[in-house]
Amino acid sequence: MQQRIQFKGGENRTLVVNLTVNGKPVQIEVSPLSRLSEVLRDRLQLTGTKVGCHAGDCGACTVLLDDEQICSCMLAVAQCEGRSVTTVEGLSSRRGELSELQRGFIAGGAAQCGICTPGMLMAAEDILRRHPDPTAEQVLDGLAGVLCRCTGYQKIVEAVLAVAKQRSLISTLASAPAQRTRAVGARLDRLDVHAKVTGQALFGADTAPANALWMRVLRSPHARASFSFGDLDSFVVRHPGITGLVHAGDIPNNRFAIFADLRDQPALAELRVRMRGEAILAVVGTQPAIEALDLTELPVRWNVEPAVTEISDSLQQAANGGEPIQTRWPDNVLCRGRVVRGDVDSESAAIRLTAEMSTAYVEHAYIEPEAGYAEWHIEQGVERVHVFACTQTPYMDRDEIAAMFALAPEQVRIIPSAVGGGFGGKLDISIQPLLVAAARKFRVPVRIVYSRPESMVSTTKRHPALMRATLSAADDGALLAYDFSGDFNTGAYSSWGPTVANRVPIHASGPYRIRHIRALTRAVLTNNANGGAFRGFGVPQSTLINELLIDQMAERQHIDPLEFRIKHALRAGDHTATGQLLSASVGLLECLNALKTEWPIKRQLAQQYNELHRDGLLRRGVGIACMWYGIGNTVIANPSSMTLALQPDGRFLLHNGAVDIGQGTYTIMVQIAADALGVPVDFIDQTSADTDLTRDAGKSSASRQTFVSGNAARLAAEDLRGQLLRLLGATDDAQIDIDDGLLMARSACELRSIKLADLSRRPDGYLALGEGYFNPPTIALDADGQGVPYATYGFAAQFAEVEVDITLGTVRVLSVHAAHDVGRAINPTQVEGQIHGGIAQGLGLALMEEYVSGRTDNLHDYLIPTVGDMPQMITHLIEDPEPLGPYGAKGVGEPALVATAPAILNAIYHAAGVRMMQVPATPDRVLAALRELRS
Ligand code: FES
Repeated sequence: MQQRIQFKGGENRTLVVNLTVNGKPVQIEVSPLSRLSEVLRDRLQLTGTKVGCHAGDCGACTVLLDDEQICSCMLAVAQCEGRSVTTVEGLSSRRGELSELQRGFIAGGAAQCGICTPGMLMAAEDILRRHPDPTAEQVLDGLAGVLCRCTGYQKIVEAVLAVAKQRSLISTLASAPAQRTRAVGARLDRLDVHAKVTGQALFGADTAPANALWMRVLRSPHARASFSFGDLDSFVVRHPGITGLVHAGDIPNNRFAIFADLRDQPALAELRVRMRGEAILAVVGTQPAIEALDLTELPVRWNVEPAVTEISDSLQQAANGGEPIQTRWPDNVLCRGRVVRGDVDSESAAIRLTAEMSTAYVEHAYIEPEAGYAEWHIEQGVERVHVFACTQTPYMDRDEIAAMFALAPEQVRIIPSAVGGGFGGKLDISIQPLLVAAARKFRVPVRIVYSRPESMVSTTKRHPALMRATLSAADDGALLAYDFSGDFNTGAYSSWGPTVANRVPIHASGPYRIRHIRALTRAVLTNNANGGAFRGFGVPQSTLINELLIDQMAERQHIDPLEFRIKHALRAGDHTATGQLLSASVGLLECLNALKTEWPIKRQLAQQYNELHRDGLLRRGVGIACMWYGIGNTVIANPSSMTLALQPDGRFLLHNGAVDIGQGTYTIMVQIAADALGVPVDFIDQTSADTDLTRDAGKSSASRQTFVSGNAARLAAEDLRGQLLRLLGATDDAQIDIDDGLLMARSACELRSIKLADLSRRPDGYLALGEGYFNPPTIALDADGQGVPYATYGFAAQFAEVEVDITLGTVRVLSVHAAHDVGRAINPTQVEGQIHGGIAQGLGLALMEEYVSGRTDNLHDYLIPTVGDMPQMITHLIEDPEPLGPYGAKGVGEPALVATAPAILNAIYHAAGVRMMQVPATPDRVLAALRELRS
């Protein structure tokens, strides 16, 4: 196409571009270097187009250029002259009616956090424009350029195919419960999904006050160094548009920590850094000045010191009397974990199997890099700060910011943005103190949007682990002892190291009956990135070696791996490694039984395939693994509070402080509250998490929200129901209703009512307020780790079917069958979505994900599963009700991924005869193992 580009200006020339955006002609004057994504977002306020990498890797910025999908971050806007651009905002009709695809995504449960959803929708639109009736392969090809970290892709692919084939998906799955049906158990559409499929959801980078300044952060390129600054004042003077700098001295209490007594990590380094990517200085200014800034021009003198990055080196160095990573922990061991039950050395074993295994750093790789803004206000004579940011922990952020800036917690308001994936990575505060300090110093709002490399280099990762374990069995096959030790590379600061060190020993022996258990852990400090919280807190690592040994033991005893697990699985009435009695909701046997039909068929098919293709390059195998996982925090207090109000207009309002990071809390809390109150879901509005407006529901982590906050929502609704029934003088079995300005209670023999207008208002303006508080009962662990660390546990069994190329070392996962005991599936669509997403992350852990400090920079050198990597996933939802759970429900967020990686490793062994002792099992490692097997 002929381009008519009109340039203006001299050296800083701009150009005028004419294009059509969502059907409307647009003329803009821009820099020739402007990316289309920047123009859409910053100039046209079409923030539905997301940016996850600025490198064409993630596809979140996908739009249609004419009729073809492109990454708008990789296209100079000059190339759009005379052309037509369609963004997610252009999918709906001018009257706001959603397109078929948008409705299909909603009905099919294809959106979770929603950050990839606009890009996915545009890619899907491209597919359907080119292939009105596409094959599955065409859909996979068409979606291949867009990454999703939450869904595992299956529901997205199914939604596209269903829309294309005009199946009845929309009408059958759009299943908002009809009036008076039970909400719990219904496949209710996400209540926050409309904003996600239209691009209206505001993520951290999508909004800020118009007068906000921008901020960038100077970070250490060295893993261990001291530093000093040169003449910073003259640097600022020489750079018009730069307002000033923020350094450690601008934060009254510069150090923070997850655990208050460990307060060790500076928000801005104090003349010494302990890891690459550590922030040392923040620069604030106008957007053009900040974007044009070359951070390497800042005057910094580095004195680089030898870094210690490996666990063994760190321990050795400390043992040799070298300077510790942090003087507070002279042996470089941040903390230890210990669970001992019985005596692992007391009985002689007929079979004793030992293994060693190592795992890598794993990046969260949420598609939304950290972003947000802070703004100070004077409210009723009191200085307050508002922080709008992507976070999993608004209340913890509030308290931490208050501590760092010597404020009362009430002076801090945390407003979580829509969160584009978290998985534990947005549990640590990162941007918040920098924004608060800058906004305070310059008395203007300040915003920041991390680049992908900045997000990767500065945030926490899954702990790499070095593990050793011995499993022994008696003559009669009984499992006698499990002896585990694990060192976890916790990086430079404490972060979530104590949680990992404590959680792993509790789970290390797996969900099996084993007489004697010893599980010891150490969180070892190094000069690497912080090991943090990541979906499972170390349990996915320890499950790898546990399930490998269980598999080996089954083989040694000549028992089918699934039958062996059935034989030794924990049941109700058993005691755990910590001596806890499992009295109910132990659904592991049911999980295994759910897999019993397909398991032998798949094993036999794999064997037949291998026999048929004896001389071929591919080998098939099927492997199984189980898992268990304590729901909620380990022993420490774990409460959640919710309120449910009756408003003067007759609508109910749930104050829901459980941040939805894609896992669905903004939907299932309403489902629970609706049933507990006895009204339809659509009677209830909600206020989503905001520390000024909602009570402390704790963190969205540890798979706790369904169980803990779900109970708080239930209790709030039951409290309100009780109040209303008493007000009406109605019996407990009465049905609450509101219609035509009347609050009513109907029972079989009477109807009682009262005018809403006749009810007096509370001081807060509501007519009534129900309150719910739940803190799971636990008992502290003693010196041997004996006690009750969790009120309940999730259980699962998964098997994976793989194909190994024995010449290339590549592994393709063909299918995963997953059975999960979730207690009760409050919303089966969302539970399936969590399991699918967990399987995707488990597959990445097993086969491809490895963050290498100093080398990994973006999503082209950190591979996460694409739609083409994903197997067919078959889920079985097992509902063994938890008596303490809301309607029997437990959590599923972390349990979803724990069994996948060991199942894949066991499948590789079944296929090719090699035990992979290092993950990820990349092709070179598989090939090396195969060579060793043959030698
Ligand atoms: Fe796809 Fe979260 S829903 S990245």
